[in-house]
Amino acid sequence: MPEQDKPRLVVLISGSGSNLQAFIDQCADGTLPADLVAVISNRPGVKGLERAEHAGVPAITIDHKEFDSREAFDIALAERIDALQPDLVILAGFMRILTQDFVSRFMGKLLNIHPSLLPKYPGLNTHQRAIDAGDAVAGATVHFVTPELDGGPPVLRAEIPVEPEDTADALAAKILVQEHKIYPLAAHWFLSQRLKLQDGSAYLDGDRLAESGKLFADTLLEQRS
Ligand code: GRF
Repeated sequence: MPEQDKPRLVVLISGSGSNLQAFIDQCADGTLPADLVAVISNRPGVKGLERAEHAGVPAITIDHKEFDSREAFDIALAERIDALQPDLVILAGFMRILTQDFVSRFMGKLLNIHPSLLPKYPGLNTHQRAIDAGDAVAGATVHFVTPELDGGPPVLRAEIPVEPEDTADALAAKILVQEHKIYPLAAHWFLSQRLKLQDGSAYLDGDRLAESGKLFADTLLEQRS
């Protein structure tokens, strides 16, 4: 397929960008038939920007510290994204609370990944919270973004067992491996028109998804399209 016919992806980051790397790799090898048109970071000098540059993807910094208000930053960010005409905007470790106006502007084509089994543990320190609660399983969830922080409808989740010796860092590392599988897969569903946000719920192939989204293990044997 000619490059210009592929759906367009923009990825927003604030840090390491290991999820971004999964998108870079899958776009490059064709597993995810999409054109990664830009990576935008709100923090200068982060590793994710290096990953983008290394892959030949335009790497843009919009430093939130240069703006007087959250609103002003979000407007500048939204205008930059609009100019890129993306079909899907991916939040991949983008550590900013977004204004309602921003979310409304992109709602329905804005995905996030959160390192917990939503609706458990929105916000920060998710791995330690799972350990402290004595949870037997932990994981990550891809979800549509709505104005409520980490509260949009879940799409796809991966679960892993919490071992007695797990520290928060160990758990985070194990969950990241799963994140790199489920996030590009959910994006693939969206870009192939299988996944939609309708009336506040996530639908896959016309079926409304469960409150916790689809479990990744259920999808392993499925074809991608
Ligand atoms: C991941 O744990 C993701 O779930 C969360 O932020 C982290 C980003 O990691 N939203 P990376 O920058 O993709 O390595």
